[in-house]
Amino acid sequence: MGIKERIFRKESLARYLDQDKKFTKTLNAKDLIGMGIGAVIGTGIFILPGTVAALHSGPAIILSFVLAALVCSTAAMCYAEFSSALPIAGSAYSFGNVIFGEIVGWFLGWALILEYMLAVAAVSTGWASYFNSLIAGFGLHLPTALTGNFDPAHGTYVNLVAILIVLFISFILSRGVRTSISLNNIMVAIKLAIIILFLVVGVFYVKPANWSPFVPFGYKGILTGASLVFFAYLGFDVVAASAAEVKHPEKNMPRGIIGTLIICTILYILVSMVLTGMVKYTKLNVGDPVAFALQFVHQDSIAGIISLGALAGMFTMMVTMIFSSSRLIYSIGRDGLLPKFLGHINPKTHIPDHSMAIVTIIIAFMGGFVSLTQLTNLVNIGTLIAFTFVSLGIIPLRKRKDIPNETGYKVPFYPILPIISVLLCIFMLTQLSVETWIASIIWFIIGILIYFTYGIKHSQISSNNE
Ligand code: ALA
Repeated sequence: MGIKERIFRKESLARYLDQDKKFTKTLNAKDLIGMGIGAVIGTGIFILPGTVAALHSGPAIILSFVLAALVCSTAAMCYAEFSSALPIAGSAYSFGNVIFGEIVGWFLGWALILEYMLAVAAVSTGWASYFNSLIAGFGLHLPTALTGNFDPAHGTYVNLVAILIVLFISFILSRGVRTSISLNNIMVAIKLAIIILFLVVGVFYVKPANWSPFVPFGYKGILTGASLVFFAYLGFDVVAASAAEVKHPEKNMPRGIIGTLIICTILYILVSMVLTGMVKYTKLNVGDPVAFALQFVHQDSIAGIISLGALAGMFTMMVTMIFSSSRLIYSIGRDGLLPKFLGHINPKTHIPDHSMAIVTIIIAFMGGFVSLTQLTNLVNIGTLIAFTFVSLGIIPLRKRKDIPNETGYKVPFYPILPIISVLLCIFMLTQLSVETWIASIIWFIIGILIYFTYGIKHSQISSNNE
């Protein structure tokens, strides 16, 4: 078999469906929305409306959020169609294997690893900011050197709290404790309650004068802002990854994915409006802007409650994402594209323990030493690449007569909408910084090297078809 045939071998949907039979189908649309909000609302809402407004968009951050929501909603519809037609585990990684062939599946899996792991690393740094400011309220301070990423010019070397929280979550996860759907739903309710508390209290302190000038950094600032706050929407694709465990996926997947996105968009826009209305955007470049704004208007006790709620919210996000990244690496290991030992399941705890250990080390390292801005940029690039392929994939998906989806969800205005989605994702990719591009190109070169030196030889996909 020639190299081209080899690398573009397509996985059969039937084999994935067969493998995924072991999952019980229990989730409904409400569970999916709960899971979606649990994964999507993390650091983004508690930090980005402040920092991005201060540095890039000003009060027009609201428009940045709308723009990012637009990009996500077209991609979300494509994800919804895919997970309705291919209700299998693995999200874009598995879609890529079935529709484009093994090398694209691998590439997307590699992009998702970047997205999931760095998203957790980013949230761990957000968690640390809120934690440090909370203990500061009690007069406790860590030495400055231990409170930030490696940045000797500003006196910080390592973000100790970020590392510790990641180790702690992995420790609980590796003992076989997974947040159950009901616990997750409770945490989501807490998260929503504190966001609503912020809105209800904050709205009384809004001074419309703070919204002017509305576009202080010009339209370019709105676009840069959109490429950064895009991060806040990430996580709805995690919903797609659980397709194998969903009842009536053809109806519930689109409801879960699109419902999550609608709720998050509304909340983000409201939080940004209230935040930039309470405090002049120039003052918002702080690690915990939402709590800061409340302290600014002397609502210290509410600021404390919100910090606690934010910590709980970010905590569940990390639990979900660490779990998903270890599962993703496990499934890639199981398919033979990464060493088999990563597909190992601990017989006592039923946890993919080896992949969990690797994921934890990488996340803790990134959270401890890299800045939130660099992390969010890198997460965004990984995700936008996955979104581009999933959107593009709708076209070959519709042509596949062996994958019927007559009764399922279909992206409207085909093929215009998927094409618009691809173009919007490419546009967002062009907004990211050169350093981000360089870092991610290095990541993908490593990925391609692993594929050609290891994956191609050990892939189950090729051995199945040969
Ligand atoms: N959307 C997630 C967050 O905002 C990654 O934290």
